[in-house]
Amino acid sequence: MTDSYQSFLSSPHVAYKHTTYFDSYDHFLGQYRGNDITFVEIGVLDGGSLFMWRDFFGSKARIIGVDLNPAAKKWEEEGFEIFIGSQSDPDFWARFVDEVGPVDVVLDDGGHTYAQQIVTVEVLLPHVNDGGLVLVEDTHTSYMSGFGTPSQSFMEYVKQRVDAVNFRFGGFPKEKSETRFWSIEVVESMVGFRIRKGATARKSEPIFNIGSRFESKDYRLEDAGALKPVEEYFNFNAGHSKLTLRELILILQEIRKRDPGLARRMFEALK
Ligand SMILES: C[S@@+](CC[C@H](N)C(=O)[O-])C[C@H]1O[C@@H](n2cnc3c(N)ncnc32)[C@H](O)[C@@H]1O
Repeated sequence: MTDSYQSFLSSPHVAYKHTTYFDSYDHFLGQYRGNDITFVEIGVLDGGSLFMWRDFFGSKARIIGVDLNPAAKKWEEEGFEIFIGSQSDPDFWARFVDEVGPVDVVLDDGGHTYAQQIVTVEVLLPHVNDGGLVLVEDTHTSYMSGFGTPSQSFMEYVKQRVDAVNFRFGGFPKEKSETRFWSIEVVESMVGFRIRKGATARKSEPIFNIGSRFESKDYRLEDAGALKPVEEYFNFNAGHSKLTLRELILILQEIRKRDPGLARRMFEALK
């Protein structure tokens, strides 16, 4: 039984999680236990997770809940700080950070739409302390309908940010590089953005431990398989289309809504 699962069971009010999340909570959040941190959970619902986090992090942690539902205010009576507003509203977050100041850990268990998840990450990243974390959960919604435009899903955004992390490598254009966080870690249904300011700011350049050149020939291109297409080894796309039928239908419906003439011409061309 993991520590976070124990805290989940100990909560006196209903908390709603998934069985696979507790290993991930322990992994991402374990290092903050017992510390004097500011923890923000977006999505209060029946209040159970606030008590779960109080038990998990300990009494030194400042636990803040954010919800669109004004009824969540009642949990202030239990010693939690509650802010009412929408996570998709940058003005709400501006007022929030004005009042709260920088935070250490953000857990997004709110509405799970792409706009809500992306706005939350983009707006809060600059307000997370060094050593902190933004953890977005229920990221499987990126593969489901009803959470936004599939081509602009949260996981599509994450893939772009992964590219931007690698653009920190020296010699690549600086403007393409991601410098607000150090790493992105993906596990089932969750993505963690870790803030490590020193490591992120370090200049990326080649370095030798002794001298300034190597003596041996580098055999990289002597390898006959070095530049072979990877399909010759593995068929990664077997049985998978890049787009699901459901995603294709949603895209076509969106085109029909925005530009019915274009949709008609597309259907004509397909005949
Ligand atoms: C999945 S529940 C949270 C569950 C809770 N964290 C738990 O573990 O029991 C989602 C919550 O997010 C809130 N919510 C939905 N959209 C929101 C938004 N745009 N901004 C803030 N909260 C939102 C809902 O009112 C609901 O209480």
